[in-house]
Formats: sequence, C-alpha cells, structure tokens
Amino acid sequence: MSKAAVTRLQQSVAAADRDGVETWMALGSRIFEGGPQRPRQLKEMPSSAGDLLDPAQSHGDVLVQVTAPNERAVLEASERVVRKAVGWRVRWQLDGFRAENRAEAGKGLGRNPFHFTEGFGNPGTEREVTDRAIVRSGQGEPDWAVGGSYQVVRIVRFATELWDKDSVREQERIMGRRRDGRWLDGTPSGEQPNFAADPAGRVTPLDAHVRMAAPDRRNSPPLVRRSYSYDRGDGDKGLIFSCFQRDLEQGFEAVQSRLEGEAMAKYILTTGGGYFFVPPPGDAWIDALFRN
Ligand code: HEM
Repeated sequence: MSKAAVTRLQQSVAAADRDGVETWMALGSRIFEGGPQRPRQLKEMPSSAGDLLDPAQSHGDVLVQVTAPNERAVLEASERVVRKAVGWRVRWQLDGFRAENRAEAGKGLGRNPFHFTEGFGNPGTEREVTDRAIVRSGQGEPDWAVGGSYQVVRIVRFATELWDKDSVREQERIMGRRRDGRWLDGTPSGEQPNFAADPAGRVTPLDAHVRMAAPDRRNSPPLVRRSYSYDRGDGDKGLIFSCFQRDLEQGFEAVQSRLEGEAMAKYILTTGGGYFFVPPPGDAWIDALFRN
C-alpha cells in the first residue's frame, strides 16, 4: 500500500464529511504487512464458532463508513468518496439503517429486526465512551495509534421467520430484557438487574444474551456498540453489528467467546465483516505510518 494511495483515500473520505454526513476510514491488518507500526492486536477477524464468513463480504484493506440522517445523503456521499478515491476498488458494501433511532440519557438507541431496542448497555457520557473505546498512551500501542479505536464489524443474518414464531415472552427470555429494555426482574432499563438473586436463571435464563455478554454487573464489558440493521429485500436481513474498543481482547473478543452457546445462537449467522483500526482524528498518522 503506498502512502499516496492512503493519503488520497483519507482526503476523499474527509471531503465527504459535511451537511450532517459523518464519514471515517478504518484500517485493515493487511495495510501493515511488512511494517512495524501495526496496532498491537490488529489481525484478520478469525471465524468464531458458528460463523460462515463469506470472503466476498469479509475483511478488506480499509473500511469506509458513511453515516447521515437520510439514505440519499449517504448514497451521494458514498459516491463522492468512491469517485475521488482513484486507484481503490470497492470489495464489499452494505446499506444499513437504524429504525426508531433516538437518544435517551446520553445513549443512542435503535430497534433491531428482532424488534428489540438496543443501546441501553452503552455508556451515557462522553468520558465513559472515551474510557472504553479510545486507545491511550501506556497501552503498548504505537504512538500514532493513541487516540484511535479498534472497530469490529460483523454482518449477522437473522432468521426472522423462525424468531417470529416464538412468543414475545420467549424472545425476551432469549435476550434477557423486555423489548423496550426493561429487565426481566422488573428493574427499569437504566438501572442494574439483580442477577445474584437469580443464580439458577429462573427469571433471566443463564444463557440469555445480556447475561452471557455482561455477567458482572459492576464491570461492564469495555466496548461501545453502534449497530445498524440491514435488509437486502430478498429475505436476507439482520444486523451490521459494530463496536469500538481500545483493547480488542478485553472488549469484543472476551464478550464474543462468552456468547458461545447463548440461546440466540440458533437464530443468527455471521456471514461477514472484519477487524479494523480507526486512526486518530486528523492525518498526522499517515506520516507516522509510512516513516521507515
Ligand atoms: C447479532 C445479534 C445481536 C443482537 C440481536 C443483540 C441484541 C442485544 C440487545 C437487544 C441487547 C440489550 C440492550 C442493550 O444493552 O443494548 C444487547 C446487549 C449487549 N450486547 Fe448484543 N446483540 C447481538 C450481538 C452482540 C455481539 C456480537 C456482542 C459482542 C461480542 C454483543 C454484546 C452486547 C453487550 C456487551 C451488551 C450489553 C450487556 C449489558 O451491559 O447489559 N451483542 N444486545
């Protein structure tokens, strides 16, 4: 990968950033081949148990994410990036949306294709978001990477027909929350449930998603989730799961391995995505990366 090519892409991505459009690029591990400056934990996303990763929508040299308040603005901005990024080729692309997108108590919420509201487990303040998601100095990462973030993207197909055959009550036991976010023991969505009072999982089953993802209610998993729904219109719909963390092993990888065997597993199939690293703001990182 040449410095000129990376600079050109960075400039085309930055130029698209206007009128409510927010864009960023994140680097895949291949960009660092032969170079010493790779973020310590960055590698090609491994296949987790049950995954069926399609090479045609997995990995890639860089990830470009384009977000905007409406579809048209996203499409126009994406086209601008692709047109300007001469020498780059689109490997895979997927349109996402956030149904009932809103913010409450500092948290971005949205409804996924399983009819559940997501976002409650995220931090509600800028400080906590930074604490979980942004690389700091002293973490053993290259200097240029301080201020950046590991981004994990997973394209997760949902068996919505199978899911919709279950009662709402059964779905809520699989997820471990009510559709509106309330906990199954009646605790309001913004407070902590008392799992300790339910050791056998009679109220919240032990294999419920939230219980396996975050069993220790005093130490939240150090990641910030921000996912989008997708619908290809041919029955293939699901979630473009995305999360950010400053430590890939303690963040995504720890939670993902805990989720093995969760009750939701038979309704989902991960078919693509990848591991990426979002560089810090600005473009000073490009010089640092190609200094050898
Ligand atoms: C792909 C299918 C998935 C669905 C439908 C899903 C859905 C949900 C829902 C509805 C919640 C509860 C509300 C909230 O806190 O946002 C939740 C929480 C959570 N999910 Fe997922 N999720 C999925 C995948 C994942 C994956 C792949 C991870 C990470 C490896 C993950 C990690 C978490 C975490 C950490 C929480 C917060 C737990 C807490 O602090 O209470 N989820 N998810």
